[in-house]
Amino acid sequence: MSKIKFFSGEKIPLEMHKVRIVQKLNLLPVEERLKAINEAGNNTFLLNNRDVFMDMLTDSGVNAMSDQQQAAMMIADDSYAGSETFTRLHSKLEDIFSTKYFLPAHQGRACENIISQSLVKPGTIVPMNFHFTTSQAHIEANGGSIIEIIGDEGLEVTSDHPFKGNMDTDKLNDIIQDKGREKIAFVRMEAGTNLIGGQPFSLENLKDVRRICDENDLLLVLDASLLSDNLHFIKEREEQCKDMSIREISRQIGAQCHIIYFSGRKLGCARGGGICTNDKDLYSDMRELITLYEGFLTYGGMSVREMEALTVGLEETMDEDIISQGPQFISFMTDELIKNGVPVVTPSGGLGCHINAMEFVSHIPQEQYPAGALASALFIASGARGMERGTMSEQRNPDGSETMSSMELLRLALPRRVFTMSQIKYAIDRITWLYKHRELIGGLEFVEEPKTLRFFFGRLKAVSNWQEKLVEQFRKDFPDSL
Ligand code: F0G
Repeated sequence: MSKIKFFSGEKIPLEMHKVRIVQKLNLLPVEERLKAINEAGNNTFLLNNRDVFMDMLTDSGVNAMSDQQQAAMMIADDSYAGSETFTRLHSKLEDIFSTKYFLPAHQGRACENIISQSLVKPGTIVPMNFHFTTSQAHIEANGGSIIEIIGDEGLEVTSDHPFKGNMDTDKLNDIIQDKGREKIAFVRMEAGTNLIGGQPFSLENLKDVRRICDENDLLLVLDASLLSDNLHFIKEREEQCKDMSIREISRQIGAQCHIIYFSGRKLGCARGGGICTNDKDLYSDMRELITLYEGFLTYGGMSVREMEALTVGLEETMDEDIISQGPQFISFMTDELIKNGVPVVTPSGGLGCHINAMEFVSHIPQEQYPAGALASALFIASGARGMERGTMSEQRNPDGSETMSSMELLRLALPRRVFTMSQIKYAIDRITWLYKHRELIGGLEFVEEPKTLRFFFGRLKAVSNWQEKLVEQFRKDFPDSL
């Protein structure tokens, strides 16, 4: 929680910034929200943002920029080759990760494409703490497969373990024994583990993983997209790091990894991405693919303006006052929901507040996508859109059967510095109302189901008229409220 204590004793995160640009929001009446979500095939990705009140879909590319970031965009150097903007971004990454080489790319999954094309051969495996949808898809597209070896506590929805994103190092050793090191393309660690609730790993765990990689001559690749939250949690929760600066922690993380890649839509609060390494051979191999898929080596598909904003955003990531904002708001929201009896992922992580749909709507079978149904219901109840992170986000097995997700979460992202306290309280209020009427919520079924990454474009319908009944209940309880 915040360093600033209130006389009232209330635990409220205090913003260490002021708002200088605002965007008008719309809140449709509940009847129109029902119409909008049905037109979107009950898929929150397919809603028009003008119909959304609180956009909690993601923290990707929608974080609020600082005045310094905006100002930096004005001094971007547009040259195709040899841009000064690139030099500034490169130097900043060298400063925070101590890495010599940098390959720019247009976003995180572009880095995954390039890393996977370079390192994943058919039949190889990539052990990782936990997958992210696009990272898995790129590894599989190159004929590899993934093995998740998150510590057991990582999959416990409620826990007080400070580092649920840690890799189980015994399991890593077992995999190397069983499969042989030559079968392993690389080992992947994800900071702020997205799909299990934005949960961090500890610096100690990362060092242990690196030691095992060294013993077996394996490459360690870090997905640093959600590093800012992870840095905050390391400083806050890891005893040995309490007195270290964020920059020192960041450099130590950099020193553990052979490759670091990131989505600049999350890390650095801009839009873009890139790959950092100290290994000249790896750099040279991947460089060819950057010019093939992304652009010339000094912009890699990014706008130079965004690159300038990213450079400033990365420096701002070294400021604890700045990176603690997101986790503090998420912690506030999580604690309030717990007080109201709503099942959520604990401890609260980064990225957003995660509702445990498996428990919230325990009457909905996983084949009917409980987290997707809850996302649809919450939009109807509030105009807030979250993201399904459960079975709908998985891919079917080759025989057509469902891959049941180990967790069914509704992720309510808190893009950094975007929402005010009253908006967060509104979301808490409507979630709590929905929880009281949870038995009204029913399941969903696909009417249009794409083969890959189906959660992006898939369209679903309610299995019964439960949505109309939910609207009726809302009108009963809120006769004259939007
Ligand atoms: N790795 C992680 C951990 C991510 O969370 C994301 C994106 C990516 C890689 C891919 O980056 O979007 O720039 O291509 N996560 C977004 C989300 C999409 O909403 O969680 P990208």
